[in-house]
Amino acid sequence: MSLSFLTTAAQVRTRVAALAAQGRPLALVPTMGCLHAGHLALVEAAKGRLGPEGGGVAALSLFVNPLQFGPHEDFGRYPRQLEEDRGVCERVGIDWLYAPPAQEVYPPGFQTYVSCEALSLPLCGQSRPGHFRGVATVVCKLLALFRPRWAVFGEKDFQQLCLIRALNRDLDLGVEIVGVPIIREADGLALSSRNKLLSATERRQATALFRVLSTARQRCCEGERRAWVLKEEAERGLLEAGIRMDYVAIVDEVGLAPVEPIEGRGIRMLVAGFAGGIRLIDNIALPCPD
Ligand code: PAF
Repeated sequence: MSLSFLTTAAQVRTRVAALAAQGRPLALVPTMGCLHAGHLALVEAAKGRLGPEGGGVAALSLFVNPLQFGPHEDFGRYPRQLEEDRGVCERVGIDWLYAPPAQEVYPPGFQTYVSCEALSLPLCGQSRPGHFRGVATVVCKLLALFRPRWAVFGEKDFQQLCLIRALNRDLDLGVEIVGVPIIREADGLALSSRNKLLSATERRQATALFRVLSTARQRCCEGERRAWVLKEEAERGLLEAGIRMDYVAIVDEVGLAPVEPIEGRGIRMLVAGFAGGIRLIDNIALPCPD
């Protein structure tokens, strides 16, 4: 199947209906474009779910969602490269690329928003009010439009992934939400479209996020169970590297509630900070010593 380039919800709806009538499944990879190896891992996961027979459809949406950017955030300078992304989609075997203009997603009169209550408040929600309402609204629209069997998201945006799992459950959307582990540069920096915006100095500073997470994980493996100690060490590590910290948190992986001490499974450490003006996030699972 060659790549179909779609720009309207009506085009998607027609194709989704035809697909459903044939009983063929769809796997959706929602993105904001500027595709990198992290996105390709999402595509791989989507295609892996569809299986080798080729009966299903791998769809990728590309939309820089204005609703999830605050008034002073980087919506204007968020990297965009539609033609390159289209080429990438062709090369990796995406069947449908949906890249709508903003007025298609938010036409005049648009007034319905989705908000995950508690999961939107902590962590990134503190410094980015409204961000998760924007994410939840656009993801909900995409899931309603595509009706995928699977929708694939990266674990780098861990809070976003939790929230999407919650909205899928709460609104009975019945999609299987697939989370894909973070893909990293050789020096540990988590791949992100925003990395393109880093100067050489900021790029060096940015490695501190993974460094402090790895150190915490190592300390945890060695038996340190006090979350507050690991947090303080990580905060110091970020400061020393010149990162302006937003937060360091150790939380349970479902409800994102702070954990103290570190006991049991399903615990994750999350960090967010600024290298220069660029906001970066990262996270790591904390294995609990038995
Ligand atoms: O993770 C992203 O790229 C975006 O937040 C998403 C899920 C595509 C919604 O705009």
